[in-house]
Amino acid sequence: MTSSRLQTSLCGIALRNPVLAASGTFGYGLEFAHLVDLNALGGIVTKGLSREPMAGNPAPRLWEATAGMINSVGLQNVGVREFVEQKLPKLAVFQVPVFANVFGYCGEDYLEVIRILESHPGLAGYELNVSCPNTRHGGIYFSSDPQLLAELVQGVRAIAKRPFIVKLSPNVARIEPLAKAAEEAGADAISLVNTFVSLAIDARTRQPRIGAGFGGLSGSAIKPIALRMVYEAAKAVKIPVVGLGGIASGEDATEFLIAGAQAVQVGTANFWNPQAPVKIAHELDEFLRDEKIGNVRELIGTLQFRR
Ligand SMILES: Cc1cc2nc3c(=O)[nH]c(=O)nc-3n(C[C@H](O)[C@H](O)[C@H](O)COP(=O)(O)O)c2cc1C
Repeated sequence: MTSSRLQTSLCGIALRNPVLAASGTFGYGLEFAHLVDLNALGGIVTKGLSREPMAGNPAPRLWEATAGMINSVGLQNVGVREFVEQKLPKLAVFQVPVFANVFGYCGEDYLEVIRILESHPGLAGYELNVSCPNTRHGGIYFSSDPQLLAELVQGVRAIAKRPFIVKLSPNVARIEPLAKAAEEAGADAISLVNTFVSLAIDARTRQPRIGAGFGGLSGSAIKPIALRMVYEAAKAVKIPVVGLGGIASGEDATEFLIAGAQAVQVGTANFWNPQAPVKIAHELDEFLRDEKIGNVRELIGTLQFRR
């Protein structure tokens, strides 16, 4: 979706529009190329990549909740080496900025994945999924401890020449200390939210609906909480904020921009319509046209609280 009204940038990267496909909901992008014009997207964030391939969690992995979805895919992926050898060269034919989503279970895991990605062309930048337990620190989540998060981000900053986004978890009491820790440690941007830890129970079997037990809640159900957290994070930092959580329409995207996001991502909506990000960008453009707004950047952070 191209229109001068939608043209923007993120961490110095020109974006055709501010609507990106979110990690884990759009494969490596390639799987969607026969369904969607990838060049019409603002960007693609790949499925999370780890040092070694991962088989993921036991089935069932998905449960449809009221106005949302619970998943525990378990970060199944081909591993960074297969990604750079098999997927990245094929992505290079498209003119869409691609961000590689990276995760690990200790600082060195992240650094090794970034080192490998750094030595290959074809990526716009990275997104660090920090919603993982640090197994070297008693399983404390990087995303819940400002000090652990800062150490990780500093390590990545020291080796990454490309810009990177730190994707924060909403499973914390206050988001501001985490957002600030990422900024001070050198992140180029932050994105939020990842999924909310949740539990669905089958009353008859008295078992969790998800094979692994708990799962992450996404979709429309989380949008109001995501909006609140994006607003809080955007107030706390100067670096760009990328907003996501339940976006399914142009109006939803507009709300995140007004809350302070510079760009948005679309996740769960891709499950029922793989063209959702393109549709959302189109609707956003119509909103701008109807409201006589020259460029989408004019919306960012314009929320007005009633006195
Ligand atoms: C099936 C599934 C897999 C996901 N995998 C990842 C992942 O690998 N890395 C990541 O950072 N986020 C992952 N997420 C989180 C999404 O990118 C997004 O943050 C979250 O779903 C909220 O946005 P939404 O409500 O638009 O889906 C996944 C979400 C879903 C539903």
